[in-house]
Amino acid sequence: MPFVLCTQTRFAHYAFRLAINATAMPSTPRHSSTSESTALDSDVRLAFAHRVRFTRGALDAANPALREVFRDDPAAASRRAVIVIDDGVARAHGGKLETALRAYFAAHAAAMPAIVDIVTVPGGEPAKHDPRVADLVIDLVERHKIDRKSFVIAIGGGAVLDAVGFGAATAHRGVRLVRLPTTTLAQDDAAMGVKNGINRFGKKNFVGAFAVPYAVLCDEALLTTLEPAVFRAGFSEAVKIALLKDPAFFAEIERSAAAIAACDLDAASPVVRRSAELHLRHIVDGGDPFEANEARPLDFGHWAAHRLEAMSAHAISHGDAVALGLLLDCRYSQLMGWLSDADHARIRACIAALGLPMRHPLFAEADTLLRGLEEFREHLGGTLTITMLRGIGRGFEIHEVDFARMRAAAAELA
Ligand SMILES: NC(=O)c1ccc[n+]([C@@H]2O[C@H](COP(=O)([O-])OP(=O)(O)OC[C@H]3O[C@@H](n4cnc5c(N)ncnc54)[C@H](O)[C@@H]3O)[C@@H](O)[C@H]2O)c1
Ligand SMILES: [Zn+2]
Repeated sequence: MPFVLCTQTRFAHYAFRLAINATAMPSTPRHSSTSESTALDSDVRLAFAHRVRFTRGALDAANPALREVFRDDPAAASRRAVIVIDDGVARAHGGKLETALRAYFAAHAAAMPAIVDIVTVPGGEPAKHDPRVADLVIDLVERHKIDRKSFVIAIGGGAVLDAVGFGAATAHRGVRLVRLPTTTLAQDDAAMGVKNGINRFGKKNFVGAFAVPYAVLCDEALLTTLEPAVFRAGFSEAVKIALLKDPAFFAEIERSAAAIAACDLDAASPVVRRSAELHLRHIVDGGDPFEANEARPLDFGHWAAHRLEAMSAHAISHGDAVALGLLLDCRYSQLMGWLSDADHARIRACIAALGLPMRHPLFAEADTLLRGLEEFREHLGGTLTITMLRGIGRGFEIHEVDFARMRAAAAELA
């Protein structure tokens, strides 16, 4: 199904409607029989609606964006909803968020599910370390009789969305999940995807599930309460996707970088939306939403990022770790003669202008860091496949790493 972008200026939000074909294989059954065995091999084709909208002020009673999330379900008013809120967001609003949610749902009761519970969970990476957050969601589904047509609504950063999404994807083998991402990173990347998960064995996302959310509603007004470092951290994912796919977008980020570093929401908004759109397009049109292939191009810079997060016991945030991982793989690309000095200098200048970290002492622990390559390979299976850069907007895949050069690149960033 084609990617459709529809702009509704009246409500200052826009919506993506799309469907994912889980396989591009022909649907003809491939049956064969001999006297001893019968094969009934078939291809399973799946299509999902992935509703993604941006707005500002989602909880203003006059803003229809949140109500419209449920528009495709004529029986929405008969459904139930539990809401799980990141405590960082709840604290930033001093308890007013719950009141505003109840008021909005009451005002639009004829077209929305009924809130049966609102709970707050620890925000940030602890939400993914502690299996109790995902367990709590499963418990809430059971306690409040949330069936597969009812809703879990997650409001928070990428970590809370991942953990709550995992609970929602596994209770009843999947209940409807609505995400309200509240960080720049969650709005420009994490909430667009179909991945949910928690950490185990000190490894990121070791346990998880692929599940397309029922809807994603990005409310930019929620970004105004972010700590500056958290606000900036989300733009490493925008730089990443620009470097992979869109040189003009990279130039746009360069122009807005200083204003973004100063947490200017109007400067940040078009960058967040474009990054979200590019992530979404990749998932929808890239032909591999559930990562059956060995390549995982959206994870440029991530083999080192995930390792640095774990090595720092998650003192380094995901967004900052991605900035560091990009710096490493861009320097490696330059040392290998793939990336020009000029492009490399532009990328470093852009990351610096965004106020993202440019070095970290953990880069000195090269042996520990390089184990991240094998962890990355193991997560996907098959041959090691990581993305490198030939130029801005020109990613490509490699299957072997020159360890001496990678160590040299890492040493410079320590
Ligand atoms: N599923 C995916 O496809 C995907 C993609 C990218 C990243 N991720 C994951 O996302 C996580 C990182 O998410 P993140 O960068 O959003 O950070 P985060 O979820 O760790 O949140 C950072 C901090 O900000 C607080 N916070 C959140 N919203 C707030 C708000 N509006 N106001 C004030 N404080 C707020 C949180 O409580 C937390 O303390 C990582 O675990 C990463 O692996 C997942
Ligand atoms: Zn990431």
